[in-house]
Amino acid sequence: MRHLMSPLDFTVKELSDLFDLAEDIEHNPAKYSHACAGKKLATCFYEPSTRTRLSFESAMLNLGGNVIGFSDAGSSSAAKGESVSDTIRVISCFADICAMRHPKEGAPMVAAEKSGIPVINAGDGGHQHPTQTLTDLLTIRALKGRLDNFTIGLCGDLKFGRTVHSLIHALVRYENIKFIFISPEELRIPDYITDMLKQRSVPYEEVIRLEDTMADLDLLYMTRVQKERFFNEEDYVRLKDFYILDKTKMKLAKEDMLVLHPLPRVNEISVEVDDDERAAYFKQVQYGVYVRMALILTLLGIHVD
Ligand code: NCD
Repeated sequence: MRHLMSPLDFTVKELSDLFDLAEDIEHNPAKYSHACAGKKLATCFYEPSTRTRLSFESAMLNLGGNVIGFSDAGSSSAAKGESVSDTIRVISCFADICAMRHPKEGAPMVAAEKSGIPVINAGDGGHQHPTQTLTDLLTIRALKGRLDNFTIGLCGDLKFGRTVHSLIHALVRYENIKFIFISPEELRIPDYITDMLKQRSVPYEEVIRLEDTMADLDLLYMTRVQKERFFNEEDYVRLKDFYILDKTKMKLAKEDMLVLHPLPRVNEISVEVDDDERAAYFKQVQYGVYVRMALILTLLGIHVD
């Protein structure tokens, strides 16, 4: 039985096969519409979400399966003090696969150890968000035709943003990737990540002003300041509007640069950018459904001819 805790759980070759499957699903949806008939996905979300949970549910419904679950820890037995290990043992009797989001780093991993069914980490605290990374990679591959030879700017909350942490880990396995980290001093990328980059001799720079680096970028990954992970409101208020990507800044960018964002957006991308052809963040949401369909099929070992 296989779980997904980190994007590194799949080799580069396995990821490539997963993305091929996602693209086949995109082009031949009818072929897959009953592939999960009789199967159930449980979504166990101990932390708020719109996209990820509904994307998983939509993926399972598109495959002809069913969904059960909870979207609020307060309405689950966690409110009575049940551990995730016990909850997953119980869920294993009800469902065939589980997507779990939790505010505590490592909670889905603890669940996976006691689980009788595949567990997918749907975001654990500030740590990892592997299915967002699969979404990001599929989007880049579909729109750019490759996953190597990029200068990628990651901008915003690089300290707490789990999507950023997962994406960096996944991208270092491809050739000739350069990272530009754009953040205020307080929200810099954690040392454990820059240490990993140094160890692997992957080039990176850290800058504060987006304008200074915009022209160098092939991809710009914007992120929200993660309000829920701040210890005090004052710091959040001071930093929340540090970056606002607008038309003026987009004029500095390459004509074929892509703007990505895991969403939800707050103020960091002005709505006037939405009509720019380089804005890919709503397309990303659609790719997220295809890649989750491919992931569910892969973890359940279902092959469609
Ligand atoms: C992200 C998350 O939950 O980490 N959202 C998502 O799943 N698309 C990003 C965020 O909340 O900022």
